[in-house]
Amino acid sequence: MTITDIDWPALKAAALEARQNAYVPYSDYRVGAALLAVYGTVICGCNVENATYGATCCAERTAVFSAVAAGHTSFRAIAVATAGPEAGTPCGICRQVLAEFSADGALEVLCFTPDGAEARFTLAELLPHAFRLK
Ligand code: THU
Repeated sequence: MTITDIDWPALKAAALEARQNAYVPYSDYRVGAALLAVYGTVICGCNVENATYGATCCAERTAVFSAVAAGHTSFRAIAVATAGPEAGTPCGICRQVLAEFSADGALEVLCFTPDGAEARFTLAELLPHAFRLK
């Protein structure tokens, strides 16, 4: 993978693999995310639920926090795998967290299902006028 190309099939495959690890005893709604860092590293996440529902962490945030913990703070794209029939898009909190690491909103977001539904956005499309402190 080069810096200029986004290998969407590889990123989708990584999101689907991460989705298998989703811990979802309450919703049974599995989500997997694969985040592409600028130099080509792929960092994955899945949703992790909790008996205190508000403590649940979405797949996208799990991926972002894992990436940051591993030293990555610049990203080009994220693939998000959900159940259908329509591809689920990142929740508002995840959009804001993604915006923290996409100052210009150029992050590419591909939402898809295993059955072939797909929707593609930039982060700026999903979260126009994101809150920023600077
Ligand atoms: N979920 C995500 O993982 N990402 C989103 O953007 C929306 C929702 C998870 C949270 C919870 O485990 C389940 O989906 C149902 O809301």
